[in-house]
Amino acid sequence: MRIDIVSVVPRLMDSFFAHSILKRASDKGLVEVHLHDIRDYASGKNRQVDDYAFGGGAGMVLQVEPIARCLRSLLAERAYDEVIYLTPDGERLAQKAVNSLSLKKNLILLCGHYKGVDQRVRDLFVTKEISIGDYVLSGGELAAAVLADAIIRLIPGVLNDETSALTDSFQDDLLAPPVYTRPAEFEGVGVPEVLLSGHEANIEKWRMQQSLANTRTKRPDLLGEE
Ligand code: ADE
Repeated sequence: MRIDIVSVVPRLMDSFFAHSILKRASDKGLVEVHLHDIRDYASGKNRQVDDYAFGGGAGMVLQVEPIARCLRSLLAERAYDEVIYLTPDGERLAQKAVNSLSLKKNLILLCGHYKGVDQRVRDLFVTKEISIGDYVLSGGELAAAVLADAIIRLIPGVLNDETSALTDSFQDDLLAPPVYTRPAEFEGVGVPEVLLSGHEANIEKWRMQQSLANTRTKRPDLLGEE
């Protein structure tokens, strides 16, 4: 998979993609993440990328021309499955959308800043608008990093244990069960006996019961039980 991220502050995401699972995924050749600076596509000696909003009001708007140039240069090179704009008024991100995006080949993630991008960018280029939650960030970069992380960890071969993404919270509209590791006893507190029993069927049953109980207590809405 290839992910191109378009932003006025791509450096914000440099170190994020240079570490951890994301680095392992790119070292293994499973994903390529390319960061693009909208300013590289600006004209004039100030390389301006934003301007005041027509009609007035506080806050700057990212201009259509530099973004159009950047997107067109990418779109001329290969076919993209989606051009995704990260914005608080987009569709709220959930695991189902992440699962389906993880099957795509080429994605563009466009980050807004200030008051956002000129509406014509959205009308002309954007195929999907995603919000990572009902709050406003100062730019779309953290949202793009969140989305890319959620997608990349699902690509086969990225996680060491192939099954571990399948047992995540939300994968069956259920939260994950509690997990324990060594030591089997810490300051007098043990771990559930069944997990030490080696009895796979019982362990599976216990995990399912715990998942259901967790979901019922913390997120009854996922079970339609609000
Ligand atoms: N840009 C600013 N706030 C955002 C949010 N909540 N989700 C996605 N992009 C954003």
